[in-house]
Amino acid sequence: DQIKVFSPATVANVSCGYDAMGFALETLGDDMIFTKTDSKGVIISKIEGADLPYDSDKNVAGAVAQLMLKDSKANFGLDIQIFKNFKPGSGLGSSAASASGAAFAVNQLLDKRYPDLELTKFAMQGEVVACGSAIADNVAAAIYGGFILVRSNEPLDIVNIPTPTNLIATIIHPQIEIKTEDARKVVPTQIDLKTAISQWSNVGGLISGLYSNNFDLIGRSLVDLVAEPNRKKLIPFFDEVKHAALKSGALGAGISGSGPSIFALSEGLETAKQVEYAIASVYKKSDIDFSTYVSQIS
Ligand code: HSE
Repeated sequence: DQIKVFSPATVANVSCGYDAMGFALETLGDDMIFTKTDSKGVIISKIEGADLPYDSDKNVAGAVAQLMLKDSKANFGLDIQIFKNFKPGSGLGSSAASASGAAFAVNQLLDKRYPDLELTKFAMQGEVVACGSAIADNVAAAIYGGFILVRSNEPLDIVNIPTPTNLIATIIHPQIEIKTEDARKVVPTQIDLKTAISQWSNVGGLISGLYSNNFDLIGRSLVDLVAEPNRKKLIPFFDEVKHAALKSGALGAGISGSGPSIFALSEGLETAKQVEYAIASVYKKSDIDFSTYVSQIS
């Protein structure tokens, strides 16, 4: 009657796919323990690694768990322990990890009542608690794994995209906090047709490159004309980091989710590590603290 889950960090948007694409990291994520209780209701008994609310209405994992217990008319309650290994406000899907970890774990305790699409819908309600918007890209990546495409929000349609085995992510997380809510305000609500055409052409190119293991095409398609030009001013040294990543062999680089983390994709672990070194050098020259990660996508 207890389950321990690992819930991955995720990179949303993947440059051209604003709110439509994401991928999950294999080695970075949160650990969570869910224990059934006789008394109904959800208690958050432990949170380590971040300053998050214990009130289960305001806690993302607590809110998702409550919703699922209610929907399934469960005859038990839950005690939740959360061990965060990466920070909220990092752009790495911290709230999504809590939300999707809760959706997945509660489903296990309910004898797998819900399919992944329904779990994604529950987890999206956690995103509403976190940032006010029911965004699917991070939570779908965490639940489905690998690369995903949010083909439609209403009705929700998630497509799993294959990941070339040798495609490795490098992440740098400068320790400044950007709230998703704020970062969404700088993205334009309207774009001109020319920009839209380029953007959806790049999404098509990226998906095609992922299917055909065409690393060059993946690299050419990692272009964002919608969010990145407006959001990059929120991230110190963004252009320098992107330039350093490309110069050291990355296929492409962009803002991870709503930032401030920056991701790069490379072919092979060796290149991904060179990219890590190069982008770390940019922040080392500044007084901004940062963490870096190199991870497979799964
Ligand atoms: N697609 C979202 C955004 C991810 O870029 O705002 C953050 O949750």
